[in-house]
Amino acid sequence: MYIKDLAAAAEQSTTIKGWVTNKRESKGIVFLVMRDGTGFCQCVVALDNCGEQVFEQARSLSMESSVALTGKVVLDEKQIGGVELQVSNVEVFQVAEEYPISKKEHGVDFLMDHRHLWLRSSRQWAIMRIRNTIIYSIHKFFQEQGFLQMDAPIFTGNACEGTSNLFETDFYGDPAYLSQSGQLYGEAMAMAFGRIYTFGPTFRAEKSKTRRHLSEFWMIEPEMAFYDIFQNMDVIEGMLHTVIREVLNTNKAELDLIGRDTAILESSLKPFPRMTYDEAVRIIRGEQDVNGVNSITSLRQAWKETQERHDAVLKDIEEREAKIATPGMKKGEIGFHQNKIQELRNELRDLEEDLRNIPQWIESAENFRYGNDFGGSDETVLTRLFDVPVMVYDWPHEVKAFYLKRSAQDPSKARGVDVLAPEGYGEIVGGGERETDLHLLQEKIVEHQLPMEAFEWYLDLRRFGSVPHSGFGLGLERLVTWVCKLKHVRESIPFGRMYGRLLP
Ligand code: 4AD
Ligand code: MG
Repeated sequence: MYIKDLAAAAEQSTTIKGWVTNKRESKGIVFLVMRDGTGFCQCVVALDNCGEQVFEQARSLSMESSVALTGKVVLDEKQIGGVELQVSNVEVFQVAEEYPISKKEHGVDFLMDHRHLWLRSSRQWAIMRIRNTIIYSIHKFFQEQGFLQMDAPIFTGNACEGTSNLFETDFYGDPAYLSQSGQLYGEAMAMAFGRIYTFGPTFRAEKSKTRRHLSEFWMIEPEMAFYDIFQNMDVIEGMLHTVIREVLNTNKAELDLIGRDTAILESSLKPFPRMTYDEAVRIIRGEQDVNGVNSITSLRQAWKETQERHDAVLKDIEEREAKIATPGMKKGEIGFHQNKIQELRNELRDLEEDLRNIPQWIESAENFRYGNDFGGSDETVLTRLFDVPVMVYDWPHEVKAFYLKRSAQDPSKARGVDVLAPEGYGEIVGGGERETDLHLLQEKIVEHQLPMEAFEWYLDLRRFGSVPHSGFGLGLERLVTWVCKLKHVRESIPFGRMYGRLLP
């Protein structure tokens, strides 16, 4: 039986198979917390109940040992999952070697080196379950509306999002690139099927370590014939509303486990503000407030509060260190303080990072040059001011991809749209209306110094029944990172690939 179903078997005898995540002993009783992938459950092995041999077997179990436990299911509201298993028999698959991940705080590099094991911990378990809900709800959203799911190739002969971050590989002696985006193939399929979406891996060679960049990430790219940029925004909003609603409905326990305050997710079920690039620039520079809040003054306030917290944490660490040093302190108490100190040190590192970042955000916001693309810090400055994703459209055409349609009202603008997640997260979706004019597209390809012959097939889409159409790309890991409020995108994917990380 799976742990998630135990409550239905109250007062019955059953067997669960799983791993020991925690063990505690008191006289004549061993408490085992078990996990089986579906949930967690406290199992009580009492000497009186199961006899000497079974009891000794339970005592011998180490963390992450694999076992089958048989016993009676008893409802108990105080326990995780609302049940307890009163064990009568233990069958051991393996007594695990000393497990490298313990309850004490570990550094991120250590955890990433042990990602294959780290995935078992409850927090990672919760994140992956939320990721699963997000994937499922995206498919559901598009399938229910009759979109066709298509798989774009991974080996490609042309760039889509510029040449600076292509992974080159050898394709029978010719250079090929790992796909940066399935969009161009999606456009071809949209001309055959009307509305399609891709859901597949994409690759960007980003030689920098940021919280937002992976070298391999999963992208969802819908493409819709006869949709303009505003209908495109309706699809983005509908999709994100569906995802958020499904996560709130399905993953209450997981959100709770990772400590995600759901207020922002709930408020994100309302319509997303839509603003032009010009308006967003005024907000970033502090020339226009959002609900009475100014970007620059609120950053200064945040810096002050961060500094105060920083000082308080530092003091707390010093006090605990002094306590540990006092003679006669009990081992358990020392362990408690050491754990807390490690936690505080981790917080301190984050606070120090904020203290370094915020002045840079202020500086880049104050000096933002009209016409530039947004950098990570500009997105952070803007989205800190909102409790819901915002859509920024009509970008200076020079800073956006070659395929975007030029605005009829203002030819200096391209009809691109970026969706920026609140709480400082920034871009999760990039998309827009596509250029339909063959000659403008050819000009753009030359301007971007892309090889024309590799795009001839794409240009055919403008030669044979060209229609207005739009689409977008959603970065799955960026969305998971925001929904779970993770500090870094690396925790949003089972085995992240990024600069400096190819193992495990
Ligand atoms: O904005 P991007 O580059 O747009 C495209 O690739 C278009 N062809 C999409 C389209 O219109 N069909 O990427 C789309 C999204 C970004 O908004 C971001 O969420 C994600 O993909 N993304 C990344 N996620 C993680 N790591 C990276 N290095 C990413 N680069 C882009
Ligand atoms: Mg983008």
